[in-house]
Amino acid sequence: MPLDPNNTVGQLVVERPGRSRILEQLGIDYCCGGRKPIAQVCREKGLSLPDVLQKIESADAESTANAPAGADPATMTLGELCDHIERAHHAWLRQELPRLAGLLNKLANAHGDRDPRLVSLADIFESFAYDLFAHMQKEERVLFPALRRMERGELEDAQAGLLDAPIGVMLEEHDEAGVALRAMRDLTDGFAVPPGACNTHRAVLDALRTLEADMHQHVHKENNILFPKARHAAGLDSHEG
Ligand SMILES: [Fe+2]
Ligand SMILES: [Fe+2]
Repeated sequence: MPLDPNNTVGQLVVERPGRSRILEQLGIDYCCGGRKPIAQVCREKGLSLPDVLQKIESADAESTANAPAGADPATMTLGELCDHIERAHHAWLRQELPRLAGLLNKLANAHGDRDPRLVSLADIFESFAYDLFAHMQKEERVLFPALRRMERGELEDAQAGLLDAPIGVMLEEHDEAGVALRAMRDLTDGFAVPPGACNTHRAVLDALRTLEADMHQHVHKENNILFPKARHAAGLDSHEG
């Protein structure tokens, strides 16, 4: 079946997570910007809509040919999604953010005089990581436990109705994380390795690229799957607009 240009980019990835790869390659934001129809995104980015749809369809055909086994977040329950996000993304970030902070500080100390952008990069990363730790803690201690309780029928309607506010805060914080990630991408010219870069510099660029891709997946699962599912279960759909 041909793809509908009115589909939002978030929905395209909910249907088939493998599409995220091609959207990453095209520089199309499917997580924080996931609510826009693919036709609009192509217009805004000056991309040819038929070409983009064709690329997505080829990627679909390829991924069906060698379908990877693995859990599909779109079919998970609220509790399963929370567990999956904590295990797949939060646990990884808790290891990776401190490691990367150490590398970035080392790099800024060693080469910051010659390249002040490395100092800005370390600064942006530091506040990004600090905010993200606080953000994950809110999800793990407040929002996710509430969603698990709602799934078990342990949340009263009035309490479920209050979930709109914390979800709204999480969405805002995802946008802020997206801004920081874009700033880091810009400061490194798209994570490009400059001539003569030392090994620490190479390791930092590689890690930042991986971090960006992982954050896109992570935020996509929360913004486009978990939160809409939670709002639906809480009877908050009518507020959508
Ligand atoms: Fe999260
Ligand atoms: Fe989040």
